[in-house]
Amino acid sequence: VKINLEISVITIHRSSFGIAFDIDGVILRGKDPIGGSPQALRRLYGDSGNLNVPFLFLTNGGGIPESRRASELSELLGVKILPSQGNAARADKLKGAIPKEKWFIDLVDLFDFQICYLYENQLIVATGKGEPAVVMSEYGFKKVVSLDEYASCFENIDPLAQYKKWTTKQGLDTSSHPLNTVPRFDVSSETVKAVFVVSDPVDWGRDIQILCDVLRCGGLPGQENGHQPQPPLYFAADDLEYQAAFPSKRLGMGAFRIALESVFNRIHYNPLEYVCFGKPNPFVFKNAEAMLKQLQPSYYSDIFKEPGDSGLPSFKTLYMIGDNPSVDVKGAQQAGHPWFSILTRTGVFRGKHNHAEFPADLASQTMKLSACCKLIFIN
Ligand code: G3P
Ligand code: MG
Repeated sequence: VKINLEISVITIHRSSFGIAFDIDGVILRGKDPIGGSPQALRRLYGDSGNLNVPFLFLTNGGGIPESRRASELSELLGVKILPSQGNAARADKLKGAIPKEKWFIDLVDLFDFQICYLYENQLIVATGKGEPAVVMSEYGFKKVVSLDEYASCFENIDPLAQYKKWTTKQGLDTSSHPLNTVPRFDVSSETVKAVFVVSDPVDWGRDIQILCDVLRCGGLPGQENGHQPQPPLYFAADDLEYQAAFPSKRLGMGAFRIALESVFNRIHYNPLEYVCFGKPNPFVFKNAEAMLKQLQPSYYSDIFKEPGDSGLPSFKTLYMIGDNPSVDVKGAQQAGHPWFSILTRTGVFRGKHNHAEFPADLASQTMKLSACCKLIFIN
């Protein structure tokens, strides 16, 4: 009994914290692991391969269904990452997780049924790299078309299409998914009830053109008949810049939002209305905390379980390791206890000292992921 108790005490100590990792600029640059991320992640597993420290990824990137992203990450990082179910009933079976695609943390888990239900049988358009319509349909939206598909239903809607040498399906193995057969709905006469920018848009010019059409014509391009209310517009995130494979920062969804907004506001009498999800929205961090609780090793919750208790004790500390002060650090700050922000220098942030406006709880001179994890373990 004594030995078991000692083991439990050690385990309790080791499990009283959890970690949320940002991906771009912390774990990966493009598709390349950085900052010693594979080794750092391996340390979170025990010898048997079980998860010792609950962790998940909290990224504003997206466009791929969760299950596929999880296996892609598993392959790139050499550890087993499972798609998160975010479901307490299955918590003891989860060993590693990637959360529901960031912003949908808010939509699906918090406002969930209102939004899904609201648009259940109504036409929505989804845009962004990857497979935005597939992602949306996996979150319960029933009648969703990608902007690629939508555009193909309107002749001449993009006057520059003939000059474009690329095809939108390039490089994607999407042929087997039913949502990728075009067209599934006759959308040319149906009103679009909402627009979702799911991931970074690929063809900004076309997307700005068609989104302006949809948004200023009350959801039906080419039908300018009076003052139609703008359909709701949702952005998955609002990152102005992010770190990809190229050495300099790249323009993110926030930059696209600014471009769309600037154009729309010049051609329309009402300013563009929109909602942005993703980090730094505190809801994202609240949901991550709930998911991390479910990822705690089952023996940890068993020890603490009291009658009537959910069996999921609170964390002493939750570390948010990110590279973007105005997104990752700001988010953790706004979320408050038990979040503790750590800023790496492998991505967006390159400053010598801490960030002036959004100072992280920890930002040292040579901070890369492996060093951050070592510090966490020492503390
Ligand atoms: O497009 C992805 C980017 O905006 C941010 O990704 O992982 O740094 O939150 P991440
Ligand atoms: Mg990042």
